[in-house]
Amino acid sequence: MRSILILLLIVFVLSSTCARNMTLNQHWKIWKNQFNKSYPNVEERLRRVIWENNLKTVEEYNRQADVGIYTYWLGMNQFEDLTNEEFVKLLNGFHNWRDKGVVVPVKDQGQCGSPWAFAAVGSIESAYAIKTEKLVSLSEQQLIDCSTLLGNRGCYGGSMTVAFQYIQEVGGIEASDTYPYKAIENTCTFNTSKVVVRLCGSVNISFGSEAALQQAVALLKPVAASVDASQNSFQFYKSGVYNEPDCSQTKLDYSMLIIGYGNESGKDYWLLKNSWDVGCGAQGYIKMTRNRNNQCGIATLASYPILC
Ligand SMILES: *[C@@H]1O[C@H](CO)[C@@H](O)[C@H](O)[C@H]1NC(C)=O
Ligand SMILES: *[C@@H]1O[C@H](CO)[C@@H](O)[C@H](O)[C@H]1NC(C)=O
Ligand SMILES: *[C@@H]1O[C@H](CO)[C@@H](O)[C@H](O)[C@H]1NC(C)=O
Ligand SMILES: *[C@@H]1O[C@H](CO)[C@@H](O)[C@H](O)[C@H]1NC(C)=O
Ligand SMILES: *[C@@H]1O[C@H](CO)[C@@H](O)[C@H](O)[C@H]1NC(C)=O
Repeated sequence: MRSILILLLIVFVLSSTCARNMTLNQHWKIWKNQFNKSYPNVEERLRRVIWENNLKTVEEYNRQADVGIYTYWLGMNQFEDLTNEEFVKLLNGFHNWRDKGVVVPVKDQGQCGSPWAFAAVGSIESAYAIKTEKLVSLSEQQLIDCSTLLGNRGCYGGSMTVAFQYIQEVGGIEASDTYPYKAIENTCTFNTSKVVVRLCGSVNISFGSEAALQQAVALLKPVAASVDASQNSFQFYKSGVYNEPDCSQTKLDYSMLIIGYGNESGKDYWLLKNSWDVGCGAQGYIKMTRNRNNQCGIATLASYPILC
Protein backbone atom coordinates (compact mmCIF):
# COMPACT_ATOMS: atom_id res chain seq x y z
CA MET A 1 0.00 0.00 0.00
CA ARG A 2 2.72 2.41 1.05
CA SER A 3 4.83 1.58 -1.98
CA ILE A 4 1.87 2.25 -4.26
CA LEU A 5 1.45 5.60 -2.60
CA ILE A 6 5.11 6.47 -3.02
CA LEU A 7 4.99 5.32 -6.63
CA LEU A 8 2.01 7.58 -7.25
CA LEU A 9 3.81 10.48 -5.66
CA ILE A 10 6.89 9.83 -7.78
CA VAL A 11 4.73 9.72 -10.90
CA PHE A 12 3.18 13.00 -9.79
CA VAL A 13 6.58 14.60 -9.23
CA LEU A 14 7.87 13.32 -12.58
CA SER A 15 4.83 14.47 -14.45
CA SER A 16 4.99 17.86 -12.81
CA THR A 17 8.67 18.06 -13.74
CA CYS A 18 7.84 17.19 -17.35
CA ALA A 19 5.21 19.88 -17.30
CA ARG A 20 7.66 22.38 -15.89
CA ASN A 21 7.48 24.57 -18.91
CA MET A 22 3.81 25.04 -18.53
CA THR A 23 3.58 28.66 -17.47
CA LEU A 24 2.65 29.49 -13.92
CA ASN A 25 -0.54 31.07 -15.21
CA GLN A 26 -1.60 27.86 -16.93
CA HIS A 27 -0.75 25.84 -13.86
CA TRP A 28 -2.80 28.21 -11.68
CA LYS A 29 -5.79 27.93 -14.03
CA ILE A 30 -5.64 24.15 -14.10
CA TRP A 31 -5.36 23.97 -10.34
CA LYS A 32 -8.32 26.34 -9.84
CA ASN A 33 -10.39 24.28 -12.25
CA GLN A 34 -9.49 21.02 -10.61
CA PHE A 35 -10.67 22.21 -7.21
CA ASN A 36 -13.51 24.49 -8.36
CA LYS A 37 -11.85 27.56 -6.97
CA SER A 38 -13.05 31.01 -7.90
CA TYR A 39 -12.34 34.26 -6.14
CA PRO A 40 -13.66 37.80 -6.15
CA ASN A 41 -11.12 40.10 -7.85
CA VAL A 42 -9.62 41.47 -4.68
CA GLU A 43 -8.96 38.02 -3.29
CA GLU A 44 -7.57 36.43 -6.44
CA ARG A 45 -4.19 38.17 -6.20
CA LEU A 46 -3.77 37.33 -2.51
CA ARG A 47 -4.63 33.64 -3.07
CA ARG A 48 -2.33 33.46 -6.06
CA VAL A 49 0.62 34.73 -3.99
CA ILE A 50 -0.04 32.19 -1.22
CA TRP A 51 -0.49 29.43 -3.81
CA GLU A 52 2.82 30.28 -5.53
CA ASN A 53 4.64 30.27 -2.20
CA ASN A 54 3.18 26.88 -1.34
CA LEU A 55 4.05 25.57 -4.80
CA LYS A 56 7.66 26.65 -4.31
CA THR A 57 7.75 25.02 -0.88
CA VAL A 58 6.36 21.76 -2.28
CA GLU A 59 8.84 21.73 -5.17
CA GLU A 60 11.79 22.50 -2.94
CA TYR A 61 10.70 19.84 -0.50
CA ASN A 62 10.33 17.26 -3.27
CA ARG A 63 13.78 18.07 -4.69
CA GLN A 64 15.21 17.19 -1.28
CA ALA A 65 13.06 14.08 -1.04
CA ASP A 66 14.44 13.04 -4.46
CA VAL A 67 17.95 12.92 -3.02
CA GLY A 68 16.82 11.04 0.07
CA ILE A 69 16.66 13.81 2.65
CA TYR A 70 12.98 13.10 3.24
CA THR A 71 11.20 9.77 3.03
CA TYR A 72 8.01 11.10 1.44
CA TRP A 73 6.92 13.58 -1.17
CA LEU A 74 4.30 16.31 -1.22
CA GLY A 75 1.67 17.10 -3.86
CA MET A 76 -0.54 20.08 -4.58
CA ASN A 77 -4.06 19.68 -3.14
CA GLN A 78 -7.13 21.84 -2.52
CA PHE A 79 -5.52 23.58 0.45
CA GLU A 80 -2.70 25.08 -1.56
CA ASP A 81 -4.23 28.56 -1.54
CA LEU A 82 -4.20 28.72 2.26
CA THR A 83 -1.50 29.89 4.62
CA ASN A 84 -0.47 27.37 7.23
CA GLU A 85 -2.30 29.38 9.89
CA GLU A 86 -5.52 29.27 7.86
CA PHE A 87 -5.14 25.55 7.26
CA VAL A 88 -4.77 24.79 10.97
CA LYS A 89 -7.81 26.96 11.72
CA LEU A 90 -9.82 25.14 9.07
CA LEU A 91 -9.06 21.74 10.54
CA ASN A 92 -9.04 22.33 14.28
CA GLY A 93 -9.55 25.77 15.62
CA PHE A 94 -13.01 26.51 14.39
CA HIS A 95 -16.32 26.11 16.19
CA ASN A 96 -18.97 28.73 15.45
CA TRP A 97 -19.42 32.45 14.88
CA ARG A 98 -22.00 32.79 17.65
CA ASP A 99 -19.25 32.19 20.21
CA LYS A 100 -17.38 35.13 18.75
CA GLY A 101 -20.35 37.41 19.40
CA VAL A 102 -20.96 38.30 15.76
CA VAL A 103 -24.39 36.72 15.26
CA VAL A 104 -27.56 38.73 15.96
CA PRO A 105 -30.06 36.72 18.10
CA VAL A 106 -32.63 34.57 16.26
CA LYS A 107 -35.53 36.53 14.78
CA ASP A 108 -39.00 35.38 13.77
CA GLN A 109 -40.23 35.69 10.19
CA GLY A 110 -43.88 35.11 11.20
CA GLN A 111 -46.47 34.18 8.56
CA CYS A 112 -44.40 35.57 5.69
CA GLY A 113 -42.28 33.57 3.22
CA SER A 114 -39.22 35.71 3.81
CA PRO A 115 -36.47 33.33 4.98
CA TRP A 116 -34.35 34.56 2.04
CA ALA A 117 -34.43 38.08 3.55
CA PHE A 118 -33.44 36.79 7.00
CA ALA A 119 -30.59 34.70 5.59
CA ALA A 120 -29.27 37.61 3.51
CA VAL A 121 -29.59 40.10 6.37
CA GLY A 122 -28.02 37.64 8.83
CA SER A 123 -24.95 37.27 6.64
CA ILE A 124 -24.58 41.06 6.34
CA GLU A 125 -25.05 41.59 10.09
CA SER A 126 -22.27 39.11 10.83
CA ALA A 127 -19.94 40.43 8.13
CA TYR A 128 -20.46 43.92 9.56
CA ALA A 129 -19.82 42.74 13.14
CA ILE A 130 -16.64 40.93 12.08
CA LYS A 131 -15.42 44.06 10.32
CA THR A 132 -16.42 46.73 12.86
CA GLU A 133 -17.11 44.84 16.11
CA LYS A 134 -20.58 46.41 16.09
CA LEU A 135 -23.54 44.04 16.27
CA VAL A 136 -26.49 45.79 14.62
CA SER A 137 -29.82 44.23 13.65
CA LEU A 138 -30.53 45.16 10.00
CA SER A 139 -33.79 45.48 8.08
CA GLU A 140 -35.42 42.46 6.43
CA GLN A 141 -38.47 44.62 5.77
CA GLN A 142 -36.50 46.90 3.45
CA LEU A 143 -35.65 43.86 1.30
CA ILE A 144 -39.24 42.62 1.34
CA ASP A 145 -40.71 46.00 0.37
CA CYS A 146 -38.03 47.26 -1.99
CA SER A 147 -36.20 44.45 -3.83
CA THR A 148 -39.25 43.40 -5.85
CA LEU A 149 -38.09 45.46 -8.83
CA LEU A 150 -35.12 43.12 -9.19
CA GLY A 151 -37.29 40.01 -9.04
CA ASN A 152 -37.81 39.16 -5.37
CA ARG A 153 -41.41 38.55 -4.30
CA GLY A 154 -41.66 39.80 -0.75
CA CYS A 155 -43.54 37.30 1.44
CA TYR A 156 -43.80 34.90 -1.50
CA GLY A 157 -40.11 34.14 -1.82
CA GLY A 158 -36.88 35.59 -3.07
CA SER A 159 -33.18 34.98 -3.34
CA MET A 160 -30.18 36.15 -1.37
CA THR A 161 -28.09 36.98 -4.42
CA VAL A 162 -30.84 39.28 -5.70
CA ALA A 163 -31.08 40.85 -2.24
CA PHE A 164 -27.32 41.50 -2.23
CA GLN A 165 -27.50 42.97 -5.71
CA TYR A 166 -30.39 45.24 -4.67
CA ILE A 167 -28.53 46.54 -1.60
CA GLN A 168 -25.42 47.18 -3.67
CA GLU A 169 -27.36 49.09 -6.32
CA VAL A 170 -29.52 51.16 -4.00
CA GLY A 171 -26.66 52.24 -1.75
CA GLY A 172 -27.12 50.18 1.42
CA ILE A 173 -29.41 48.74 4.06
CA GLU A 174 -31.05 50.35 7.09
CA ALA A 175 -31.17 49.03 10.65
CA SER A 176 -34.30 47.19 11.77
CA ASP A 177 -34.75 50.02 14.31
CA THR A 178 -35.42 52.54 11.55
CA TYR A 179 -37.15 50.10 9.16
CA PRO A 180 -38.87 47.50 11.40
CA TYR A 181 -40.24 44.09 10.48
CA LYS A 182 -43.98 43.84 9.69
CA ALA A 183 -44.29 40.32 8.20
CA ILE A 184 -46.31 41.66 5.26
CA GLU A 185 -45.21 43.47 2.12
CA ASN A 186 -45.68 47.25 2.21
CA THR A 187 -44.70 50.19 0.04
CA CYS A 188 -40.97 50.80 -0.01
CA THR A 189 -39.95 53.59 2.38
CA PHE A 190 -36.19 53.16 2.17
CA ASN A 191 -34.32 56.34 3.14
CA THR A 192 -30.71 56.57 1.91
CA SER A 193 -29.66 58.81 4.76
CA LYS A 194 -30.40 56.02 7.25
CA VAL A 195 -28.08 53.47 5.64
CA VAL A 196 -25.91 51.50 8.10
CA VAL A 197 -24.10 49.04 5.81
CA ARG A 198 -23.14 49.25 2.14
CA LEU A 199 -22.32 46.31 -0.09
CA CYS A 200 -19.78 46.23 -2.91
CA GLY A 201 -20.63 42.74 -4.15
CA SER A 202 -21.25 39.15 -3.21
CA VAL A 203 -19.64 35.78 -3.83
CA ASN A 204 -21.26 32.48 -4.78
CA ILE A 205 -19.81 29.31 -3.26
CA SER A 206 -18.67 26.92 -6.02
CA PHE A 207 -21.78 24.99 -7.02
CA GLY A 208 -22.27 22.03 -4.70
CA SER A 209 -18.83 22.14 -3.07
CA GLU A 210 -19.05 21.51 0.67
CA ALA A 211 -15.25 21.91 0.84
CA ALA A 212 -15.47 25.44 -0.56
CA LEU A 213 -18.36 26.15 1.80
CA GLN A 214 -16.35 24.97 4.80
CA GLN A 215 -13.42 27.14 3.78
CA ALA A 216 -15.62 30.23 3.53
CA VAL A 217 -17.40 29.61 6.86
CA ALA A 218 -14.15 28.90 8.73
CA LEU A 219 -11.95 31.58 7.27
CA LEU A 220 -14.24 34.39 6.20
CA LYS A 221 -17.72 34.78 7.64
CA PRO A 222 -21.18 33.18 8.01
CA VAL A 223 -22.70 32.14 4.67
CA ALA A 224 -26.34 32.41 3.55
CA ALA A 225 -27.59 29.12 2.09
CA SER A 226 -30.75 27.69 0.56
CA VAL A 227 -31.88 24.14 1.31
CA ASP A 228 -34.67 21.69 0.58
CA ALA A 229 -36.83 21.98 3.68
CA SER A 230 -39.94 20.40 2.20
CA GLN A 231 -39.85 17.14 4.20
CA ASN A 232 -41.98 16.68 7.31
CA SER A 233 -38.87 15.81 9.26
CA PHE A 234 -37.59 19.35 8.81
CA GLN A 235 -40.81 20.91 10.02
CA PHE A 236 -40.68 18.97 13.28
CA TYR A 237 -36.94 19.00 13.91
CA LYS A 238 -36.10 19.32 17.58
CA SER A 239 -32.45 18.37 18.20
CA GLY A 240 -29.53 16.25 16.98
CA VAL A 241 -28.05 16.20 13.49
CA TYR A 242 -30.82 16.42 10.88
CA ASN A 243 -30.36 13.64 8.34
CA GLU A 244 -32.87 13.27 5.50
CA PRO A 245 -31.94 10.90 2.66
CA ASP A 246 -35.04 12.00 0.68
CA CYS A 247 -33.84 15.57 0.52
CA SER A 248 -33.27 17.12 -2.91
CA GLN A 249 -29.97 18.80 -3.85
CA THR A 250 -31.62 21.13 -6.32
CA LYS A 251 -35.24 21.78 -5.36
CA LEU A 252 -34.49 24.37 -2.71
CA ASP A 253 -37.35 26.14 -0.97
CA TYR A 254 -35.91 27.61 2.22
CA SER A 255 -32.95 29.70 3.36
CA MET A 256 -30.90 30.04 6.53
CA LEU A 257 -27.55 31.31 7.75
CA ILE A 258 -24.61 28.90 8.20
CA ILE A 259 -22.68 30.03 11.27
CA GLY A 260 -20.45 27.03 11.89
CA TYR A 261 -19.87 23.33 11.56
CA GLY A 262 -18.63 20.42 13.62
CA ASN A 263 -18.73 16.73 14.37
CA GLU A 264 -21.20 15.37 16.94
CA SER A 265 -20.97 11.70 17.96
CA GLY A 266 -19.31 10.88 14.65
CA LYS A 267 -21.76 12.87 12.55
CA ASP A 268 -20.50 15.86 10.60
CA TYR A 269 -22.93 18.75 10.70
CA TRP A 270 -23.48 22.32 9.54
CA LEU A 271 -24.83 24.69 12.19
CA LEU A 272 -27.54 26.97 10.84
CA LYS A 273 -29.41 29.91 12.31
CA ASN A 274 -33.10 29.72 11.47
CA SER A 275 -35.68 32.51 11.38
CA TRP A 276 -38.39 30.86 13.39
CA ASP A 277 -39.29 31.81 16.89
CA VAL A 278 -36.70 30.47 19.33
CA GLY A 279 -39.30 28.07 20.75
CA CYS A 280 -38.93 25.90 17.63
CA GLY A 281 -36.04 23.57 16.90
CA ALA A 282 -32.93 23.86 19.02
CA GLN A 283 -33.47 27.45 20.23
CA GLY A 284 -33.79 28.63 16.65
CA TYR A 285 -30.76 26.72 15.37
CA ILE A 286 -30.53 23.51 13.39
CA LYS A 287 -27.70 21.06 12.73
CA MET A 288 -27.84 19.62 9.22
CA THR A 289 -25.83 16.73 7.84
CA ARG A 290 -22.47 17.75 6.40
CA ASN A 291 -20.20 15.95 3.94
CA ARG A 292 -22.83 13.51 2.79
CA ASN A 293 -23.12 14.35 -0.86
CA ASN A 294 -24.38 17.93 -0.47
CA GLN A 295 -27.46 16.74 1.42
CA CYS A 296 -30.52 19.03 1.06
CA GLY A 297 -28.47 21.16 -1.37
CA ILE A 298 -26.67 23.03 1.40
CA ALA A 299 -23.80 24.01 -0.95
CA THR A 300 -25.91 24.43 -4.10
CA LEU A 301 -26.89 28.10 -3.76
CA ALA A 302 -24.76 29.45 -0.94
CA SER A 303 -23.38 32.98 -0.99
CA TYR A 304 -21.93 35.71 1.17
CA PRO A 305 -21.77 39.52 0.89
CA ILE A 306 -18.71 41.71 0.36
CA LEU A 307 -18.90 44.92 2.40
CA CYS A 308 -17.53 48.16 0.98
C1 LIG B 1 11.79 25.12 -20.87
O1 LIG B 1 12.18 26.24 -20.06
C2 LIG B 1 13.58 26.45 -20.01
C3 LIG B 1 13.88 27.55 -19.00
O2 LIG B 1 12.84 28.47 -18.90
C4 LIG B 1 14.08 26.78 -21.44
O3 LIG B 1 15.49 27.00 -21.42
C5 LIG B 1 13.75 25.63 -22.36
O4 LIG B 1 14.09 25.95 -23.69
C6 LIG B 1 12.23 25.32 -22.31
N1 LIG B 1 11.96 24.10 -23.08
C7 LIG B 1 10.95 23.98 -23.91
C8 LIG B 1 10.77 22.68 -24.56
O5 LIG B 1 10.16 24.92 -24.08
C1 LIG C 1 -34.72 60.56 5.67
O1 LIG C 1 -34.00 60.56 6.86
C2 LIG C 1 -33.52 61.83 7.24
C3 LIG C 1 -32.59 61.66 8.43
O2 LIG C 1 -33.16 60.85 9.41
C4 LIG C 1 -34.70 62.74 7.51
O3 LIG C 1 -34.24 64.03 7.88
C5 LIG C 1 -35.57 62.83 6.27
O4 LIG C 1 -36.73 63.56 6.53
C6 LIG C 1 -35.95 61.44 5.79
N1 LIG C 1 -36.62 61.51 4.49
C7 LIG C 1 -37.82 61.01 4.30
C8 LIG C 1 -38.36 61.15 2.91
O5 LIG C 1 -38.46 60.46 5.16
C1 LIG D 1 -24.56 33.99 -8.09
O1 LIG D 1 -25.48 33.05 -8.57
C2 LIG D 1 -26.72 33.63 -8.97
C3 LIG D 1 -27.70 32.52 -9.25
O2 LIG D 1 -27.14 31.51 -10.02
C4 LIG D 1 -26.45 34.54 -10.15
O3 LIG D 1 -27.67 35.11 -10.60
C5 LIG D 1 -25.50 35.65 -9.70
O4 LIG D 1 -25.17 36.48 -10.77
C6 LIG D 1 -24.23 35.04 -9.12
N1 LIG D 1 -23.47 36.12 -8.49
C7 LIG D 1 -22.17 36.30 -8.69
C8 LIG D 1 -21.52 37.42 -7.96
O5 LIG D 1 -21.52 35.56 -9.45
C1 LIG E 1 -16.64 20.82 -9.05
O1 LIG E 1 -17.91 21.19 -9.56
C2 LIG E 1 -18.53 20.19 -10.35
C3 LIG E 1 -19.85 20.73 -10.86
O2 LIG E 1 -19.76 22.07 -11.18
C4 LIG E 1 -18.76 18.94 -9.50
O3 LIG E 1 -19.29 17.92 -10.33
C5 LIG E 1 -17.43 18.47 -8.92
O4 LIG E 1 -17.65 17.40 -8.04
C6 LIG E 1 -16.77 19.59 -8.14
N1 LIG E 1 -15.48 19.17 -7.65
C7 LIG E 1 -15.03 19.44 -6.41
C8 LIG E 1 -13.66 18.95 -6.08
O5 LIG E 1 -15.71 20.05 -5.59
C1 LIG F 1 -16.42 12.79 12.44
O1 LIG F 1 -16.34 11.71 13.33
C2 LIG F 1 -16.33 10.43 12.70
C3 LIG F 1 -16.29 9.35 13.80
O2 LIG F 1 -15.54 9.76 14.88
C4 LIG F 1 -15.18 10.30 11.74
O3 LIG F 1 -15.26 9.07 11.05
C5 LIG F 1 -15.22 11.45 10.75
O4 LIG F 1 -14.07 11.39 9.90
C6 LIG F 1 -15.23 12.76 11.51
N1 LIG F 1 -15.26 13.82 10.54
C7 LIG F 1 -14.42 14.85 10.64
C8 LIG F 1 -14.52 15.86 9.56
O5 LIG F 1 -13.60 14.98 11.52
